[in-house]
Amino acid sequence: MIKIDFNKLPQHIAIIMDGNGRWAKQHAIGRIRGHKKGAQAVRTTVKTCREIGIKYLTLYAFSIENWERPAKEVEALMSLLDEYLTKETKQLQKQGIRLTTIGEINRLHPSVKEKLLQAKESTINNDKMVLNIALSYGGKDEIIRAVKKIIQDNKDGKININEINKETFSNYLYTSGMPDPDLLIRTSGEYRISNFLLWQMAYTELYFTNVLWPDFTKDDLFKAIASYQKRERRFGLTSEQLKEKDY
Ligand code: IPE
Ligand code: IPE
Ligand code: MG
Repeated sequence: MIKIDFNKLPQHIAIIMDGNGRWAKQHAIGRIRGHKKGAQAVRTTVKTCREIGIKYLTLYAFSIENWERPAKEVEALMSLLDEYLTKETKQLQKQGIRLTTIGEINRLHPSVKEKLLQAKESTINNDKMVLNIALSYGGKDEIIRAVKKIIQDNKDGKININEINKETFSNYLYTSGMPDPDLLIRTSGEYRISNFLLWQMAYTELYFTNVLWPDFTKDDLFKAIASYQKRERRFGLTSEQLKEKDY
C-alpha cells in the first residue's frame, strides 16, 4: 500500500478517465463493455475519495467532442449514465456526497437530464464531498459561454468593464464557487488535456499514468496523491520565498 500524508491532501482532484476502449480491446470485448467496467472504477474512486477526505472530485465523463463518436457508443454511454444515477443516488446520499455537473446538460437525453436534476436537488445539502461530473463539457466552450454572459450582463448594467478580473470572470464559469483543481490525473498514457478545465487548471499539478481507466484502483489513486505531495507548488515564486512564507 502506498503511503500518503492525510494532512496534506489535495482539496480538489480532477480526473480525465481515459482508456475504456483500449481496455476492451485488450480483453477482446466491445468498447461498450469497457465503459461498463469504467463505471465500476468510478464507484470505487468516489468511495475512496470520500473516505480519505477529498473535498471536491471532478470527473470528465463525456466531452463535447465525444458527441461525434458513433451513435451506438454515445447511446450506450448515456444509458450507462442513466443506470449510474438510478443506482448510485442513494449511495451518494448515504455518504453525504453532493452531486454537481459542469457542461451542456441541456443536450443530454431528457430522462438522463431529469435524473441528474433530481440527484443534484436531493443531495444539495450534503457537505462531505462534492462529486462534480463533466458532461457534454468543453473548456473552450465554457469560456465562450462566460464571455457571452458577461457581455449580456454588461449591457444590462450588471457588470462594469472595470469589474472584470480573474475572480469575477471565474464566477461566470460552470465551476463558479469551486476551488480550482490541485491535482489532475489522466489515465491511459495520453499526455494531453483534451479541452478540460482550461481556465481552472492554470496552476494544477498534472499527473499522467499508463493505467487504463477500468484498471484504476485505490492504489493508483494513492500513487497520484503521493506524487502530488512530493511537489513544491511555487505559483511563480522562488523556493526561498515559499519557505519564508511557512514561518
Ligand atoms: C474514456 O475512454 C471514456 C470516454 C471518453 C467517454 P475512451 O472511450 O476514450 O477509451 P480509449 O481512449 O478509446 O481507449
Ligand atoms: C477525454 O478523452 C474525454 C473524457 C475522458 C470524457 P478522449 O478519449 O475523448 O480524448 P482524446 O480524444 O484522446 O483527446
Ligand atoms: Mg480516449
